[in-house]
Amino acid sequence: EKGGYEYFMLKEIAEQPQAIADTLLGRLSERGEIILDEVRLTDQDLRDVDKVFIVACGTSYHAGMVAKYAIEHWVRIPCEVELASEFRYRDPILDRSTLVIVISQSGETMDTLMALRHAKEQKARVLAICNTNGSTIPRESDAVLYTHGGPEIAVASTKAFLTQLVACYLIGLHLAQIRGVMYADEVAAVVERLSQAPDNLRELLDGMEDVRALARDLKTASTILFIGRHVGFPVALEGALKLKELAYMHAEGFAAGELKHGPISLIDEGTPVVCVVPSPAGRGVMRDKVVSNIQEVRARGARTIVIAEKGDEGVRAFADHLIEVPHTPTLLAPLMTTVPLQILACEIAAARGHDVDQPRNLAKSVTVE
Ligand code: M6R
Repeated sequence: EKGGYEYFMLKEIAEQPQAIADTLLGRLSERGEIILDEVRLTDQDLRDVDKVFIVACGTSYHAGMVAKYAIEHWVRIPCEVELASEFRYRDPILDRSTLVIVISQSGETMDTLMALRHAKEQKARVLAICNTNGSTIPRESDAVLYTHGGPEIAVASTKAFLTQLVACYLIGLHLAQIRGVMYADEVAAVVERLSQAPDNLRELLDGMEDVRALARDLKTASTILFIGRHVGFPVALEGALKLKELAYMHAEGFAAGELKHGPISLIDEGTPVVCVVPSPAGRGVMRDKVVSNIQEVRARGARTIVIAEKGDEGVRAFADHLIEVPHTPTLLAPLMTTVPLQILACEIAAARGHDVDQPRNLAKSVTVE
């Protein structure tokens, strides 16, 4: 049942190209438009939206953080993302023209379900992104977009995360399309890059042997820090979450620009810092900023593990270990940069002798608040 893999997690990581392709299937037209007829919200409903809230927990929350960047950039409406367990206690301002997107792999997470009920009481429209057909969250939502990741058995979420990202991109592009904020050819250009993601990911997965060796090296570290900027920030948080969850190691993700406001003092001789570098394409301003952050940590003794786009030769000099990922437009990059971090956490946990698929104290779906 593990299809020759040692753990379900490794099998599910390997299934990611297919999971993405399945989630895109039937949702893109030949002309590069988004077809989301299955989402039971009318175009008028979607045109009336003046604010989006994304609510989720754990890894699904990180997908929501990425979605915020994409939705605000493409759709030009305000988008907030919030942890489900915090959302309703804050008494958020919601009404009929608020779209609340809840993201849940299992569809049974109690914190997310309670947030959804709160949103509905306030008359907001609720759209679920979910991987489990007929589960409670999509049943109680006004509309649902299913991710077609297939069953995820390992407690650590991997393929569900990437398919959630794809679903978020589809919703963002769909909103931009029907609200007329993006031209058809602009949408089609992103769609084309999105359709290349499965192939790019296959290529990436074929070159991960090095990450396995690196994991054996890092297994005794007392902490691992992760830094990123823009969509690389949620990727850093996700890398740290995976490591805590599976390897029971201290790990923390930071927005790279925040380092100098405190966390940089954690860095000591040999502290491993995983750095997620944005694409140098375009003006590359963000990429240059992250590269200076890498230099800053390195000057203080950090051992840098750099995840950067293939062809970004300039980062080499600052990388103690370089992991190259295929080129993708900035907003889509988490589909690539997350994957080495999943493998790193899985392999470190295995090297430390832990049960990768069933980490202690955790359940696959958290049905208590
Ligand atoms: O089923 P959900 O997506 O609602 O689950 C949310 C979190 O419990 C989940 O993503 C958790 O953080 C993962 N185990 C992380 O790998």
